[in-house]
Amino acid sequence: MSKIIVQGGKQLSGVIEVNGAKNSALPILAATLIAEGEYKLDNVPDLKDIRTMIKLLQTFGLEIEKIGEHSYKIINTGVSDIEAPYELVKEMRASFVVMGPLLSNLKKAKVSLPGGCAIGTRPIDFHLAGFAKLGCKIVLDQGFVSAEASELVGNKIKLPFPSVGATENILMAGVKAKGETRISNVAREPEIDDLCNFLNKMGAQISGIGTDELIITGVEKLTPCQYNIIPDRIEAGTFIIASIITGGSLEIAGVVENHLGGFIKKLEKMGVEFEFVGDKIKVKANLEKLKSIKISTEPYPGFPTDLQAQTMVLLSLANGNSEIKETIFENRFMHVLELDRMGANIKLDGNKAKITGPVKFNGAEVSATDLRAGAALVLAGIVAKGETIINEIHHIERGYENLVERLLLVGVDIKKV
Ligand code: EPZ
Repeated sequence: MSKIIVQGGKQLSGVIEVNGAKNSALPILAATLIAEGEYKLDNVPDLKDIRTMIKLLQTFGLEIEKIGEHSYKIINTGVSDIEAPYELVKEMRASFVVMGPLLSNLKKAKVSLPGGCAIGTRPIDFHLAGFAKLGCKIVLDQGFVSAEASELVGNKIKLPFPSVGATENILMAGVKAKGETRISNVAREPEIDDLCNFLNKMGAQISGIGTDELIITGVEKLTPCQYNIIPDRIEAGTFIIASIITGGSLEIAGVVENHLGGFIKKLEKMGVEFEFVGDKIKVKANLEKLKSIKISTEPYPGFPTDLQAQTMVLLSLANGNSEIKETIFENRFMHVLELDRMGANIKLDGNKAKITGPVKFNGAEVSATDLRAGAALVLAGIVAKGETIINEIHHIERGYENLVERLLLVGVDIKKV
């Protein structure tokens, strides 16, 4: 199995460019199932998860051609199959968002139940309740979810929790439903706005974008379009932490300031200063003076759960006792044991992690347990004394394109073996 080896202690400098947002590209790719014709998507990150979604779309009969480093041409000449196979949905549970587009296009869909994953059981009850409200008959059988409707009819849907995936799936099932669909308590992540903007560019009528209620007026037909995916705020946040913990000379380009609201506000409370110059961000922080802080992960615009693991590395270098409460997923602390083996002093108490700093990280052999945990281990390796060997790096490659090459370019002593 491939590993990443990092020699810690190097000075970082230069500019690292943020790629397109994985969690925006995935639902937007799924949305190309809704209407026939030719699409062009730009700023799509070149990641394993994207390749998995493309494979899935091809099983439905779509022709997809990579026409540039981050650009794809997609031709939908009619969806031939309605079943999303187990092996692809198992590989990437986000595949489940093909259900809404299939319902929109064909009024029926059969998708393998997505498994849970390391960070939680990841149920889909909110998705199915939403489809039922739009008139679908749902059958769970042999590990598959089948949904079918003679007609999709708009309705009022209130999400019990602002679930990103459920918001996306129900939204895409509603764009051609008869009449008006109101989805309240929706997720407000920037990736949701991006999907709404893409669908509206295709001719959908979605209003309330950015608020906690989306109002969709069903339309007869949608037509393909060209679209640029927004930058990845989680990748940006990961590199911002890399810059802070190595003295701040690394600049990050391609950042959308208001996409990082809750994250930046918390770091400012620790004493980190940010300077935005165009789409570039510079950070200034004196590690010795960083104050400890209490953080609770929240749905957007709160502190993102996807930056929780990476932020633990930063809090371990701050002075005093910090705390991170994980409120989104039930089991997203596997990285704590690995960080403790590198010298962190983190104690778990239910859904709270208590972090005592400052510590000195020491290199060790560790394993990534999920995508963002892997990124946290790379960050710890960058500041650790000596060599860190990171196993299970396929997790990292799901969400960070060419991470090793890009970190090498800004001065990290890192290699993949
Ligand atoms: C999306 O997952 C992201 N994935 C996750 O990023 C991200 O951590 C998460 O949103 C939260 O922001 C993609 O966009 C592909 P949810 P999703 O539905 O949609 C519960 C990464 O690192 N829930 O908002 O699966 C669920 O159990 C990934 O790229 C239900 O109970 O997240 C969880 O506790 C990791 N029933 C909470 O809601 C449902 O029907 C939030 O889940 C749906 C969700």
